[in-house]
Amino acid sequence: MFDTPQSDVRIIGHRGAAAVAPENTLASFRAAAALGVRWVEMDVSVLADGAPVIFHDEELERCSNGRGRLAEVDFAYVQQLDAGCWFAPQFSGERIPTLSEALQEIQRLGMGLNLEIKHDGLGLERLVASVLTTLAHEWRDSDKLLLSSFNHQALCLCQHQAPHLRRGQLYESIPANWQQELQDIEAYSLHCDYQALDAMLARSIKAAGYRLLCYTVNDPQAVARHWAWGMDAIFTDDPARFLGND
Ligand code: G3P
Ligand code: MG
Repeated sequence: MFDTPQSDVRIIGHRGAAAVAPENTLASFRAAAALGVRWVEMDVSVLADGAPVIFHDEELERCSNGRGRLAEVDFAYVQQLDAGCWFAPQFSGERIPTLSEALQEIQRLGMGLNLEIKHDGLGLERLVASVLTTLAHEWRDSDKLLLSSFNHQALCLCQHQAPHLRRGQLYESIPANWQQELQDIEAYSLHCDYQALDAMLARSIKAAGYRLLCYTVNDPQAVARHWAWGMDAIFTDDPARFLGND
């Protein structure tokens, strides 16, 4: 399982290529592909009406011209919002993608995907069911897909409902019981803030047989030692700074 056709990927575009295009939009995924990135990460959340969309924040304000909480608006409202002009005028007209639209575009571009499931409120089972149903309809190559979440329960549900899809547990800081949590979900990988890692912890994670992915790295110097510790891949907003490493 750990020796996959995609295991040599070292650079993952964060929210597409968030330094050069509005994050989590189709334009951002295209920008990543144009830079030669082979995998991207994106965040999926669910709206009040159950529609899964690609968006990072709980509130609409930072990355769109909408107002309010994502979990309290429906798709009819979200689909007419502009998700590009906040970033730069040339991205005016970019939309908040549905999960289906994003999956189709990423496959059209030939890229792999780390799909991060965002969840902080009620309705976790509905969100996971919606994401897995959409993936079953849209995503073709499970070797080019990795699910992740900070929410351990979300990954437990994924393991029960779609055990064939790889899972990565996300941590801001790595808890003492990380091995138990990774065993619980039969994890493929551990994803953490690169600043939460030290040599001993990194080597323990690798010795336990997991792939080790670190976010969000925009300065190559910041992780110069991490590669030597066994880190497998990074998430970066600015893939151009790492070209030649992948
Ligand atoms: O999946 C890696 C990274 O995206 C996790 O943090 O807040 O950028 O979604 P965040
Ligand atoms: Mg994310």
